[in-house]
Amino acid sequence: METKNITLLSERAIWERKSTRSFDCTRGISRECLEGLLRTAMRAPSPKNRQPWHFTVVTEVAAKECLSDILLRKLEILCGERQERGKGTDDLELAQGSVRVLRDASVLVFVSYVRDPGNEHGDSHRWALSAQPFEVADLQAIGAAIENLLLAAASHGIDSLWMCDVLYACQEYQDCMGLRQPLVACVALGYQTHHQTPREPLEAKVDEWNG
Ligand SMILES: Cc1cc2nc3c(=O)[nH]c(=O)nc-3n(C[C@H](O)[C@H](O)[C@H](O)COP(=O)(O)O)c2cc1C
Repeated sequence: METKNITLLSERAIWERKSTRSFDCTRGISRECLEGLLRTAMRAPSPKNRQPWHFTVVTEVAAKECLSDILLRKLEILCGERQERGKGTDDLELAQGSVRVLRDASVLVFVSYVRDPGNEHGDSHRWALSAQPFEVADLQAIGAAIENLLLAAASHGIDSLWMCDVLYACQEYQDCMGLRQPLVACVALGYQTHHQTPREPLEAKVDEWNG
């Protein structure tokens, strides 16, 4: 059985986890910690234990900038196309926030769906969803793995954002990163910025008088 140094996941992590959209680009996450988080993600249940996920980890600044630019450019193209057709662009404008997240987060975890056509049951159920039954089941497992990742991060005091905005540029990402499987989501990990209004230094505001 696989073992791991365990930091207890508690109900507290579930209540304290929140989506973070402003990351401190100066702070990193150790490789050891990151591996621990991914191991916890992969403890998720999955249909017939298929473990239908693959994680592509990005930590280098230049790589994150490149992936951020890809989304920015794609959103601009989509915006232009929609405007030409007189269609709304609200969702694209909201997705702009993810451009900065992709650039500033310490770590990006791109999650792909390892789809095995051999999993088709071929049974006679009629499914209301357009996805095939095994795909519906596999995607639930991927969601469970992503939630495990977010909760493990929260229990280590690491902030996160689950992003499907990357799907606007899914083909571009698959080509750029050489992903062989469909992209499902990206999880940003890091530490939230704490913007405080600055104060003047002590010497500027304090002196001493002793009579
Ligand atoms: C499947 C999924 C996709 C999401 N995609 C995005 C996204 O692309 N961009 C974003 O800013 N937030 C995204 N979110 C985060 C949600 O907006 C967020 O979870 C929700 O508003 C509740 O806020 P909370 O996470 O702080 O509790 C996503 C969440 C889920 C579960």
